[in-house]
Amino acid sequence: MYPLRRNRRLRSSEAIRSLVRETIVTPNDFLVPLFVVEGKGIKEEIPSMPNYYRYSLDLLSEEVKELWSLGLKSVLLFVKVPDNLKDNTGKEALNPEGLMQRAVTTVKNAVPEMLVMTDVALDPYSSYGHDGIVSEGKIINDATTAVLAEMSLSHAKAGADFVAPSDMMDGRILEIRSLFEDEGFHDTGIMSYSAKYASAFYGPFRDALDSAPGFGDKKTYQMDFGNREEAIKETCMDIEEGADIVMVKPGLCYLDIVRDVRNAVDVPVAVYQVSGEYAMLKAAAEKGWLDHDAVMLEQVTAMKRAGAHIIASYFAKDVVRLIS
Ligand code: PBG
Repeated sequence: MYPLRRNRRLRSSEAIRSLVRETIVTPNDFLVPLFVVEGKGIKEEIPSMPNYYRYSLDLLSEEVKELWSLGLKSVLLFVKVPDNLKDNTGKEALNPEGLMQRAVTTVKNAVPEMLVMTDVALDPYSSYGHDGIVSEGKIINDATTAVLAEMSLSHAKAGADFVAPSDMMDGRILEIRSLFEDEGFHDTGIMSYSAKYASAFYGPFRDALDSAPGFGDKKTYQMDFGNREEAIKETCMDIEEGADIVMVKPGLCYLDIVRDVRNAVDVPVAVYQVSGEYAMLKAAAEKGWLDHDAVMLEQVTAMKRAGAHIIASYFAKDVVRLIS
């Protein structure tokens, strides 16, 4: 009771504040998304994601070496697929010599200890820009999960440590886990995008991969942003089906979901601070309206405080430089 307890004593200097701080971000918290393109010597900036790039495989090697030297030990790979290889079957996604498969090998050759996760969804490969196979204007669930399992197996064979299905089809985790077990990939993990919302924050990412839906939206498979309890149902089902790590996405607007999920499950919880969140802060900072580094650190700390064990973030490098 006041004045016996004066809370400001614990805030009176940086020394005492850092002694009693509950949440501290470290390089170990981050998973670094990387965009990969065909070609040589390419490091092209994504217009709606300032200071974020697409890399050809040769420069991807350099980038992952730098990440490793900064203490960033996990990457999440996305590929930009040439238009002429896109179709409605995901055929190119299964190509053992495809860009994703070569990207996995490239990272493993450059930094063998790096943890490599791969995005599993059909949108970068789809002539319709949807995460699944399309028939009569609908995204067909079970035909899609069969391809996603084959795609995951192909990534595992290329050397991926984890696959990260981001498609939100029903039953895909079970389908992938079963195929992995049948094929002897017992040690390949699954990080499931379990509570992934249909969000307007993905815009810059779709620019980065040229993967925006050609018709309609993703609301028949990604979650409605008005829903909270449904996130627990989705997440628990993915765990029953064999997910090793679960994810909430996007980040900042969904920290209530991160905390709910963290309280409900006993597997590691990831959060994805998505492209639109990155773009918002970059734009405000460019205008001089926000202090970039201070806001960035506050945001990622909030994600960890909300309960995330893992933060997938385009800010990972910036954060690590700031805190080291
Ligand atoms: C594709 C995928 C998306 C993101 C990750 N995987 C886009 C989408 O679902 O439309 C978004 C990531 C971001 O915005 O940073 N399945």
